[in-house]
Amino acid sequence: MNKYPEDSKTTLTDLVLPSETNPLNNLFGGELLARMDRAASIAARRHSRRIVVTASVNHVAFNKSVPLGSVVTVEAKVSRAFKTSMEIVIDVWIEDRESGRRSKANEAIYTFVAVDDVGHPVPIPEITPQTDLEKERYNAALRRKQLSLVLAGKMKAKDATELKALFE
Ligand SMILES: CC(C)(COP(=O)(O)OP(=O)(O)OC[C@H]1O[C@@H](n2cnc3c(N)ncnc32)[C@H](O)[C@@H]1OP(=O)(O)O)[C@@H](O)C(=O)NCCC(=O)NCCS
Repeated sequence: MNKYPEDSKTTLTDLVLPSETNPLNNLFGGELLARMDRAASIAARRHSRRIVVTASVNHVAFNKSVPLGSVVTVEAKVSRAFKTSMEIVIDVWIEDRESGRRSKANEAIYTFVAVDDVGHPVPIPEITPQTDLEKERYNAALRRKQLSLVLAGKMKAKDATELKALFE
């Protein structure tokens, strides 16, 4: 069965409370990682309809601090499905209180694996990107998977053909 990134779209909106901030009164990085992990796991579950586990956090950019009291929206979507693993791209937005205008605060890329009841990886549906952004993210996902596997010591650099092509 084929699915679309939109099928997995997951949006979590919540406030930043005092217990979730650092001494500068900005959102603590670990709290944002947890929110992103939660949204990504729901997106992975929506795509696979399976139990899913976080295999890797491939990229996180804390570009902008998120002040106390902010309304934070975390949006997660599966960008590419492989055999048993999925790449999830997460965009984080904050909302201006007066205008309601959203600005991009952070982004991250996680890898989830679908597993059976005893934790063994199981196959997942294919995905077809539709928008230009979805296609761009889909096309770059194999390189990121290879980089993640090389860094984890699960793939030899010489076998990371898509990744190597970037430098040739
Ligand atoms: C994730 C996990 C299921 C992978 O199991 P494994 O025995 O390595 O299984 P495989 O080697 O068959 O890998 C399964 C898939 O994950 C991918 N994968 C594994 N490690 C990866 C990594 N570091 N980065 C990207 N992809 C990875 C593999 O490429 C494979 O993808 P594919 O089937 O789509 O091609 C296993 O390591 C696990 O259960 N980890 C703990 C997960 C967890 O508890 N997370 C929460 C942490 S608190």
